[in-house]
Formats: sequence, C-alpha cells, structure tokens
Amino acid sequence: MSATRTQQSHGYKPLGRRYPETSIGWYRRTFNVPKEDAGRRISVEFDGAFRSALVFLNGYFIGRNDNGYAPFCFDVTDFTNFGGKNFLVVRMDASFGDGWFYEGAGIYRHVWLTKTDPLHLERWETYARPTVKGNSAAIALGTVVQNQGTTAESCRVRWQIMDHSGKVVGTADSDTQSVSPDGSATFTATANLNNPALWSPESPNLYSAVATVEAAGKPRDAERATFGVRILAWDPDKGFFLNGKRVAVKGTCNHQDHAGVGAALPDRLQWYRLAVLKDMGGNAVRTSHNMPTPEWVEACDRMGMMMMCETRQMSSNPEGMAQLETMIKRYRNSPSIILWSMGNEEWTMMPQPQGVRVIDEMIARSHELDPTRRCSAAVNAAFETHFPEQLDVMGFNYNLKVHDEWHKAHPKKPSVGSETASTVSTRGIYSTDKLRNWVSAYDLNHTAWSQLAEEWWKFYAPREWLAGGFAWTGFDYRGEPTPYGWPSVSSQFGIVDTCGFPKDNFYYYKSWWGSEPVLHLFPHWNWDQRNGEPISVWVHTNLDSVEVFLNGKSQGSKKVEPLTHLEWKIPYKPGVLEARGTKDGKVVLTEKRETTGEPASIRLTPDRSEINADGEDVAVLTVEALDKEGRTIPTADYPIHFKISGEGALIGVGNGDPNCQESDKEPMRSLFNGLAQVIVQANRTPGKITVEAFTKDYPPPNLPPTQVTIMTRKVDIRPAVE
Ligand code: GAL
Repeated sequence: MSATRTQQSHGYKPLGRRYPETSIGWYRRTFNVPKEDAGRRISVEFDGAFRSALVFLNGYFIGRNDNGYAPFCFDVTDFTNFGGKNFLVVRMDASFGDGWFYEGAGIYRHVWLTKTDPLHLERWETYARPTVKGNSAAIALGTVVQNQGTTAESCRVRWQIMDHSGKVVGTADSDTQSVSPDGSATFTATANLNNPALWSPESPNLYSAVATVEAAGKPRDAERATFGVRILAWDPDKGFFLNGKRVAVKGTCNHQDHAGVGAALPDRLQWYRLAVLKDMGGNAVRTSHNMPTPEWVEACDRMGMMMMCETRQMSSNPEGMAQLETMIKRYRNSPSIILWSMGNEEWTMMPQPQGVRVIDEMIARSHELDPTRRCSAAVNAAFETHFPEQLDVMGFNYNLKVHDEWHKAHPKKPSVGSETASTVSTRGIYSTDKLRNWVSAYDLNHTAWSQLAEEWWKFYAPREWLAGGFAWTGFDYRGEPTPYGWPSVSSQFGIVDTCGFPKDNFYYYKSWWGSEPVLHLFPHWNWDQRNGEPISVWVHTNLDSVEVFLNGKSQGSKKVEPLTHLEWKIPYKPGVLEARGTKDGKVVLTEKRETTGEPASIRLTPDRSEINADGEDVAVLTVEALDKEGRTIPTADYPIHFKISGEGALIGVGNGDPNCQESDKEPMRSLFNGLAQVIVQANRTPGKITVEAFTKDYPPPNLPPTQVTIMTRKVDIRPAVE
C-alpha cells in the first residue's frame, strides 16, 4: 500500500514512521504492592493495546506483544517490589497498523493487576459448556490449576452454578488430584440444571459458574465464568436456529470507534451503541476484523445481541494460532457468540493450497477448544476453490451474483452473509455533492462491490437457506472515507453516524428487521432555495399504505410493497409535510416534517439523568438548535460551545460529519445537520455534573445559553492500584 492509501485508510491520522511523536507513546504508572503480598503471584494483564507493546517493571524488561487486539498477560512476581513503590512503564508503537481502518494508538483497553495464591486457576482456562437435554441442561465444567509453589498440592475444584439473582442452582466437585510444583492439571466436573432459562436476544438469561480451587479444604483461588444456556444450529436449507426456532441474522459489522473517544470506548458506550442497533431491530454484530474488547462481548451477553467473533490474523503461524486460541478461550463462555470467524477477505491466500491448509488447521484447533460452535470466515473471492468448502458455515462477503450457484454446488453447507451492503450516505444530506464530500442519504449509493440496503436485504430475506447477514457497517468509523479522500476522515458506510445518530436507512432496517410499526418520512422540509422544485419524498414503513399531505393537501396514497420504500415527487412549498400510515384500514402512525424558523434556543438532552460516580461512567448528550416553536432545525450547522462543571469532565465531542476537522476533545462542536454529541465522564465524588451550552462569535441572533444537570450516584468503586 502506498503511504497515501494507508493514510486514507486510517482517516489521515498522523500515524506511521513519519510521525513518531504521535505514533509512539510511553506510559508510566506507579503503584504500591504491600509487604503482605510477598509470596503471592502478581501479574499484569492488558485487554488489548495498540500495538507493539514493550513492558518494563521497575526497570526490568518484562516482555513484548505486537498484536493490537488480543489480550496478553505477564507474570511479574520476580520483578515486583513488595512493600514499596513499583514503576510500570509501557512503550506503545502504532507506527505500523494491523488493518485498513483507523485502529487507535496506545493503551485503549483496560489493564489489570492480578494477585493470586501460588496455587491458582490458569488464565482463560475456565469453561462452562451447557448441553440441553429435554428440560434440563448438563453443564460440562473444566479448568486448569497451576501450582507455582514449591511443594506438591493436593486439591480439587468446586463449582457453584448461580442464576442471575445469585441464587445457587447447582454444584459440582471435581476429583482430587495432586499438582506438582511448577506443574498444572486439568480439573473437570458436570453439573445439572433443571428447567434452565434459555438465552436469546429477547431474553438474555445468564448463569454463572464460580470455580474455586481448594487445597486442604481451604479456598485458594476462584473465578466466575458467565454463561448462558441456548441451542445453536446451522442448517444448509433453513439457515440459523436458536433454541429450535429459525432466526434470521439481522446483523451489522462494526469497528471499535466512536465519536469523541476513538478506539478507547468507556465501557458504558458499548451499551449505548448496542441500544442503538437493537432499536433498529438488529440482533447481531460482527467484530470486524479483530478480537473485540471484553466489555463489548459482555454487553452483548447481557443485552441480548448475537455475535460473530472474528480473529485478526487468518494464519496457522504461531502468532495467528495464539491469537485464535486466546480469542476462543477468552470468550467461549459467552452465549452471545454464535459463530467464530477465522478472518476476513484473505483473497491472495484463499485460492492457494496454503489457504486450505491454514483454514483447516485453524478450524480443527477451534473445534478442539470449543466443540459447541461452528467456524466461518468472510469470503469475497475464490468462491470456486476449495477454501470455502472447508468452512463449517460459508461466509459471503458481497458478490450476490455467486450465492445461488455456490449454494447449488454445495448443498450441504450452511451460509451466512458475513458482510453485505457497504451502502454510503451522509446523515441529513439529500443530494450528493462531490465538492463537499457528501453522499445523499436516500438509499441510492453504494460502492462498485456492494449494494443498497434495500437490494441486499431483498436478496437475503426470501432465501431461507441464507441465515441472514451483517451489513457493513452499523456505525460510521474513522478511516476508509470511501468514496472520497481528504478532508473526509471517517467512513460513510454506517447506518448510523459516528455518534449513533440514525441516517434514514436506519428506518429501512427498523421497518423490516424490527417488530414495531415504523413510519419514517424524509427529507426535512427546509428547502428555501428550491421553491417550486420537485423534491423526492421517501417513506420507510412496514405499514399497509401511506398518504402524504403538503399543507393539508393530499399528494397521493401509496400501497407498501414489502421490503421496499415509498417515493413521491412533491414541488416544494414551505409548510408542513405529513405522512399518514395505515394498517388494516386505520391510520396508526403519522409523521410530520415542518419548515422551521430562525434559531431561538439550544437543547441539551442527556441519555440518562443519573450516572455512577465511579470515575468511568459516561452520559451522552444530544445537542440541537430549536426554533421559537421548539422544533429541531435539521439544517443547523453553527458552533456550540460547552462548559462542564461539577463532578465530571468532558471526554469527547462529535457531530457525525465525515469531513469535520474540529477537535474531538475541545469544548466546542459545530452542529452538523442539526445535531452534535457531547460525552461527559463522572469522577468518583457523588454529586452533579452541569453541562452548559452556548454560542460565541456567531452572527446574531446569539442563542441564550442553556444547561442541564446530570446527577452522579454513589456506587462501589472498582478496585484500582494506588
Ligand atoms: C470490505 C472489507 C471491509 C471494508 C469494506 C468497505 O471488503 O471487508 O473491511 O473495507 O470492504 O466496503
């Protein structure tokens, strides 16, 4: 890849050898380890860090990790200063990337200091694997105990199975075994659960299995594995089944990136983002193209979102296998994961005999580590070769033309759309403007290799053998500003923008993926420059028919054809555009777009009025400009300034504009087509956070300042090193 192409992929971030000052970062953290910890094992664990980490403790080199996504862990006991200060120094180097999208730079996930007994459970070895039989489930339990002490230990592992309320609903004990010094041993047992509450997106019922290793009757280490009971089945003719019921995968691919914060998402944002996708009717996500952060998986488990979990490196080399093993061991208990992905679009390798050997090796190892899940990969080429035949579940990326033929030739292979759509649109824009790098938000634009929302879903929905698919992408992300280059810095592929503000296609998906009645009318009705000109008026709806009115005058009624939008051409006149949607002969929903007046006020709307005073939780505020009637002005584009006071701080701002060059961290953001977002984070003192918004240097009328208060409540704080 040329430097320019790489820069474009990464959203023109100053990363690479030419920018050492922003590509290389040193982190230094001081912490105390009390004298009483002498004799315990101390380790430092990174959930993932971008990338090429060099880790030092107290001046001693500890180790390195090149991958930017897989967690890694170092036992630092020998280098620890017990009873005094410790200095952890980490050098991160993001000069080289792993992918062709903006991936962040530095430590963007949590880092943990873990202290254990010398006799302890080994990292990521504990599993709880349910098999449903009739009204009960047998839970196969397993873990590995490691003895880093100096004498052999006779021990056993006891498991307690708990339901979501913490009630113990099952127990199991392993046999007793002796574990030699510097040795380890595997312990297993089986527990039974009667009438388990099954996990599904609608009812994300969870259980936990707490494994405790005991020696001489005393607990020495314990770990909680959260799991769910559900039955997965992939069928070549009928698609995907969850708990015996066919479920269409209504998925989106997503990168780890959000407005204002980039790759370093506070945990709460995972929930925020999933809520947006669920509201759209989505039931699945694909972690393209790398191991997800643990909190994303946890949010999927708890909120009920299925996941296709993907490793970064499709390779059977030691690094590729290590990444794959870590991913599977780390996440195999998570009920949200329905499919492992061995990687994405390795089109040079796939047609070669090497590709077949590599994928065979990866799949065999995945099955050993997790016999309950099938493996797939995202295939965009080499359909006629042996590579896709090796997959348990074929993953189609785009290429609608080959699907039917491939299925006919491989009638025993289940299939899913691992990547589809790549529809491009800019939120709130209704005509493509190549000078401004805008793409119209009508469902009209896609790349040479991809499809419109309506095209791909119309293709997938009626084909029962296709299990559904994952649209590229749920959220916009930094990098890959296709179809433009600088000054575009983020993608236009998202169904929602980088803040999570819906583009109009959101309502196409909501109509045909969701279960609620939907009526969405667009565009906005502020077209002063186009008086008398015909405007394309679209409606996304799942009702029976829709009648559109302009200033009370009918513009005609149209019958809804399933999976298809409705369209009118209406000469512009300011006023009120209204859609009335009918179901079974009755008007059940109406929606209006009104020509708005001059800006009169600013509105700030936090997603929650109270958050945790834990130094981590965030409130996400929507910023709008209103006219004097209190209507949102959909074309407002002027800068709004913010002042945050009290028990919290600003951590990012955004507006979903793919071309915006404003700082993500300064207390100012221009509205983009009427919207901006502010993210504030609580500190650890309960109280209130006040967010004020005001205009400055804006030609009259200046808008009166406004403010909202977010309460922060006292909660247990996660332990952290001091
Ligand atoms: C795919 C690729 C994605 C993204 C997308 C854009 O081929 O897997 O990562 O680049 O194209 O359309």
